[in-house]
Amino acid sequence: MMWARRDILKAGSAIVATTGLPRLARAQVGGTSVGTLEIDTAGRRAPISPLIFGQFIEFLGRSITGGIFEEGSPLSDANGFRRDVLAKVLGLQPTILRFPGGTVTKIYHWEDGIGPRATRRVRPNLIWGGVEDNHFGTDEFIRYARELKAEPFITVSMGVGTAEEASNWVEYCNGTGRTHYADLRRRNGFDAPHAVKYWGLGNEEDAEPDAGRLQDPADYVREAWYYAKLMKLQDPSIKLIAAGGGQAWNERVVHELHPVADYLALHLYPKTQGGVPLSLIKSADDTEATIGTIRDQIARLAPPRVTEFNKWYRFPPRAAPMMIALDEIGIWEDAGGGVYNMETRYDWNHALATATLYNVMIRNADIIGMATWAQTVNVLAPILTNATGSIAQTIWFVMALYRRFCGSHRLSATLPSPVLALPGAEQQRSLDTAATIDDAGGTISVFVVNRHPDRAVATRIARPAGYRRVDLHELSAPSPRSANTLDRPEENVVAERSRTLGTIPDHYSFPAHSITVLHFRR
Ligand code: AHR
Repeated sequence: MMWARRDILKAGSAIVATTGLPRLARAQVGGTSVGTLEIDTAGRRAPISPLIFGQFIEFLGRSITGGIFEEGSPLSDANGFRRDVLAKVLGLQPTILRFPGGTVTKIYHWEDGIGPRATRRVRPNLIWGGVEDNHFGTDEFIRYARELKAEPFITVSMGVGTAEEASNWVEYCNGTGRTHYADLRRRNGFDAPHAVKYWGLGNEEDAEPDAGRLQDPADYVREAWYYAKLMKLQDPSIKLIAAGGGQAWNERVVHELHPVADYLALHLYPKTQGGVPLSLIKSADDTEATIGTIRDQIARLAPPRVTEFNKWYRFPPRAAPMMIALDEIGIWEDAGGGVYNMETRYDWNHALATATLYNVMIRNADIIGMATWAQTVNVLAPILTNATGSIAQTIWFVMALYRRFCGSHRLSATLPSPVLALPGAEQQRSLDTAATIDDAGGTISVFVVNRHPDRAVATRIARPAGYRRVDLHELSAPSPRSANTLDRPEENVVAERSRTLGTIPDHYSFPAHSITVLHFRR
C-alpha cells in the first residue's frame, strides 16, 4: 500500500537493535535460492545505542529559519515552530538533536541567541551567507528538543568563541546555583536547568579552508583540554565529543584527549560518483572500513577506563569506553537548490543507500555511540519545505522504519549474496543485512536491503531456534529513480507492505530495490 501523507506520521515506536556481517558468496539471482539466512541467536550481542537515531540542525540556508522555524507563517505555532515540519520530525522519533553546527560554530556566539527576540543581535552568517537574526537560539533549541523528547547536543565555538564562553554556556544550560548565567536562564523563563549532557568540542577543526584557528592537531588538543576543564568544572557530568579528522589528526586527538573525551566525532557523507547511481552503494559500503580504522585507533590508544587521573583536575576522568560519534552522517550529492546546492532531492537509490548506512551503524554498534543525521530539514535532509507545505523524502521512510524496528542489541547474521556486478558497484553485495534483538520481548528484526536495481534475490531461511512466526515489513518504490517532490506534495512514491507470514517460510525472495524487515516472534 502507498503511505498517505497523513499516515506517515504514525510510523515508529520502539528503540534500537543489532546485526551481523553478511558473507560474500557465489550465487545466482532471480527466483532460485542462493544461500541461507542464518541468525546466530546464541552469539555475542552488542548493545545498540538508542542515540544512533539522532538529527542535526545548523544555521545553514533553510535548515533552521525557513525549515523547522518560520515566524509569521500560518503553518507555525506561537514559538515560530513549523507544525507541519515538527510532525514529520516527530515521525522519526529522534533520540538526540545536535545544534547549532557544523561549520557555523566557528563564527557563532551563543549569547546572541538568548533574551527578548527583539533585542537579539543580528549578524551576517559569515560561513554560509545570509543574515541570522538569532530569533532561534539556545532556549528555542531546548524547547524544540523537548517537544521531540530528544537529548539536546550542543557544539561550542572553538573559532571566535573562547573556553570561558563555552563554560558560561554550560552554566547557562546546566547551572543550579544562584550564579550569573543560571540566573539569566531563569530570567529568560526557564527555572529548571536545561540539563544538556552532550557537548561537542568544536567541529571539523582540521578543515584548512574554514575560518578555524586550530588546524594543527597540537593546537587543537591544547585548546580542547582547556575547554574541557572549564566546561567540566561547571558540570562534571557532561559528556564531551572531540572533533575528528584525518588519520594522523585522530591519532593525536585520541591519544591526548582520551582521558576527558567520551566520543571522537566522525563525519561520513557518501555520494554518487561520476553520475553512476550504483557508485553510491559502494560509497555507503566503504564507510564500514573507515569506521573499522577508527575502532582500531581507539582500541590502541584509549584504554576502556581511565584509572590514573590527577585529583586536582577536580572532575572525574572518562569512565566508559571511548566511542565514535557519527555526529554528521548523510548523503552529499552537491546537486540541488539552496546554499551550496545542498537542498538535495533524494530518490529511491538514496533510500537504499540510507538503509545500508543504518545497517552499517547496527553492525558496528560496539563502537558507534551516537549518530546525528546531517541534516534534518532542507539541507541534505529527509524533509523539504516551501512556504505552503512540506514533504517527506524517500530517505525519511527508511529512517522511520529502522527507528521502529531496531531492537536493543545487535545479533550476528549471515546472508550470502550475489554481487551486483554492475557499473559503479561491481564488487558490492546485492543484499546487505543487519540483525537485532529486542531485550524486552525477544523479537528479532533482520533488515535486508536488496540494492539490485532490477533483480529479486531469493534465499533460504534457517529458522532461529525457539522462533515460530515471522512478520514482514517492506518498503519499495516504482524505480530507483523515483522521488517525492514539493511540486506534487500529495503524491508519495514510497510503498509500504506489512503482512504476517505466519510460520517461518523456508525461502524468501527479496524484490529488486527493496528494503525488508523480517520480524521474528516466538
Ligand atoms: O552538514 C553540512 C556541513 O558539512 C557542516 O556544517 C560541516 O560540519 C560539514 O562539513
